[in-house]
Formats: sequence, structure tokens, C-alpha cells
Amino acid sequence: MSPRYAHITGWGMAVPEKILTNAEISKMVDTTDEWIVSRTGIRERRIAGSDQTTASLATDAALRALEVANLHPGDLDMIILSTSSPEYIFPATASIVQDKIGAVKAGAFDLNAACTGFVYAINLGSQAIKSNGVENVLIIGSETLSRVVNWKDRNTCILFGDGAGAFVLQASEEPGGVLAAVLRSDGSGEDLLSIPGGGSRHPASMQTLYDGLHYIQMNGREVFRFATRVMVEATKQTIESAKLTMDDIQLLIPHQANQRIIEAAARGLDYPMEQVMVNLDRYGNTSTASIPIATVEALEQGRLKPGDNTVMVAFGSGLTWGAALINWTGPLPYRRKVSPRLVRGFARLRSILARLRRRIEGFIWGNG
Ligand code: ACO
Repeated sequence: MSPRYAHITGWGMAVPEKILTNAEISKMVDTTDEWIVSRTGIRERRIAGSDQTTASLATDAALRALEVANLHPGDLDMIILSTSSPEYIFPATASIVQDKIGAVKAGAFDLNAACTGFVYAINLGSQAIKSNGVENVLIIGSETLSRVVNWKDRNTCILFGDGAGAFVLQASEEPGGVLAAVLRSDGSGEDLLSIPGGGSRHPASMQTLYDGLHYIQMNGREVFRFATRVMVEATKQTIESAKLTMDDIQLLIPHQANQRIIEAAARGLDYPMEQVMVNLDRYGNTSTASIPIATVEALEQGRLKPGDNTVMVAFGSGLTWGAALINWTGPLPYRRKVSPRLVRGFARLRSILARLRRRIEGFIWGNG
């Protein structure tokens, strides 16, 4: 049997319209635009409106990615949604997106590896394709971190933003696509970056609410030190495993957490900043969504082209870190044009009919 490759054939992003600037944050907590820009590089971030959630942003990004790939959602075999701010503890946000886009043949599950989640999803999706298990995989990174940030804590609220990004991965016999990946974790750092409340360790109660355990808690200095080390390590390991060098990489797409972390990683790799994608000044840290959002903008700016090699590298809570090396291709040749508006309309209708059928069956057979 000839080898199979997993190509990224579609990409899309969705960010809320509402912009929150550093100047506005400085009216909420004791900080300044100058402090935030000099320590992080962030100037503004997007904040979800009351009608937007992790699933709705994920759905918008997913439909755009499917449109680029020109793939009908009914042809998807698997949906992996990476998030740390899911719609609910369960069901998985991936299942909600599966229903909203009408991916009737797809299995769907959430993946939590914090900000590294999208790199994990790239690897899982591509391995599923390479093992001959599936043909078409949708991976999504989506966050509404504004809902879990303590807007009175200046150590964290300046950093995060909301948004979503998605890739379509498809099987092909043409060489290229996802070439290598490294995934790592060190749970001894579980306390460095977490939302401690609402899980089995600290079930939600008046006390957890009072103590603010439902908010992001972070030891910024420790996370910073860890991040600068592992970004370099993971990038080197990934390109070495593909028997390439940094000279073979046209663009580095790092997790967008902090300009200083990104610059330290570029220095550690002896890699020019001109070949590093940075857009955190406009979105802040959107956690697992940051890499696909940065990728979509790199493509729009012509910084990533078919044939280029790119490394996507991330770190995050867990602790987790990892990198993926991709030989960029683009959409596969296709026959028919898929309309996202039609897809969304049919999916909505199908979902209403499925709910109605369940109610009728409940009425006929009784609810007990
Ligand atoms: N405005 C003004 N002063 C501030 C602010 C603020 N917003 N935040 C903190 N300070 C103060 C601190 O209280 C401290 O004062 P002190 O010395 O009197 O105690 C001082 O500024 C310096 O604090 P540091 O923590 O040393 O500041 P640092 O230069 O390390 O920057 C930052 C802090 C930006 C949080 C940095 O440590 C960082 O980016 N760390 C990594 C965080 C990160 O990337 N997290 C996301 C990980 S991905 C994921 O999984 C979600």
C-alpha cells in the first residue's frame, strides 16, 4: 500500500467584533498601556459578545475552513475541538459544532491541552489519516477566555482574548502536509496555570465562588521561564525528527502569548524575527486558537505559500508543549462548489427535525 499523507487543505478564523484596548483595561485595573505593551506586546484583544460562545466562534471558523477546502461537512469523518473554555464540562463543544455544521458522519470530541491543544490536534488528526483510519478531519481551536478571566486581576486580565481558528486535514498520496510532531507534558507544573474550581477536586460551591477559584490563576514568572525553554526545545526536536534544519523552515508560527517569549525563542533558535509570525498585538493570547488565527493571517499576507515548510510551536497549562512541522500545500483539486450558507441552513433544519423527532418519540413512548 502506498504511503498516505495528511494535508492541510482548508483554514478559517473567527474573532468577535468587539475590541478591548489597553487604555480601556487601564480604567478597570491598575495598569497602563505602556506597561502592557512593553511587557507583553499586546495592544488590544477581542471580546465575545453576549450572543457569542466557544461553539459559535468555532462554527464560524469551521465553515470558513470547509469553504476553503471546498469540502461538504457531510464528508467529515472526525472533528477534534481543542479548548480550555468549553461550552459546558460536558457534552463536548465538538458535538455542538458537529450538529451546527451538519457533519452527520463525523465522530466529535474535545481535547484539552490548553494553549498547546491545537498542535496536539494537528498531530492526532494527521495520525488518524496516515493510519488509514479516516479521510477528512476538521480540527478547531476555540476560546472565550474572557468568560473565565478575573477582570479585577491585572496579572492575567491583560493577557487573554477570544477567538477561533480551524484547519481541514485531508488524505492524499501526494507527499507533503504534516511531516512531524512532538507532544510533551509535565504535570508537576499543574499549579502554575489553572482554573482550580468547578472540577472534581474543588466542585463548584459558594466557597469556590467566593475564593474566585473559577477564574484563571497564574504564576506568570514561572510560566515565562518554562515557555522560553520549551519553545526552542520542541522546535529543534521536531525539525530534527524530520531530518531538516532551521534553514529549511520558511516561517515559524509560535503560540501568541508574549512578544518577549517569542523573541527569546527566535534568539534561542538563531532564527530571524522577520520569518516569525506575530499578531498578538491585535488579539492577545487566544490560547489554543492563536496558532490557527496566526496561520490564516500569514496566508492572507502572503507569508506562507504552497511548498513552504512551517513549524507551529506552543506551550501552555498542564504543563504542556509541542511543535508540528508542516509542508504547506493548500486545497486539493475539487469538483463541486460547497456553499457555507446553504450548509448552515440545512444543518439547522436537520437539527430541528432531530429534536422534534425525539419529542414525538418521547410523547409516544412516554418519558419515564
Ligand atoms: N500592570 C502593571 N503592573 C503589573 C501588571 C499590570 N498589568 N501585572 C503585574 N504587574 C506588576 C507585578 O505586580 C510586579 O510588581 P512587584 O514587583 O511589585 O511584585 C511587577 O509588575 C512585575 O511583575 P512580573 O511578574 O515580574 O512581570 P513580568 O515582566 O514577568 O510580566 C507577565 C508579567 C506578562 C505575566 C509575564 O510573566 C508573562 O507573560 N508570563 C507568561 C504568561 C503566559 O504566557 N501565560 C499563558 C500561557 S498559555 C495558556 O495555557 C493559557
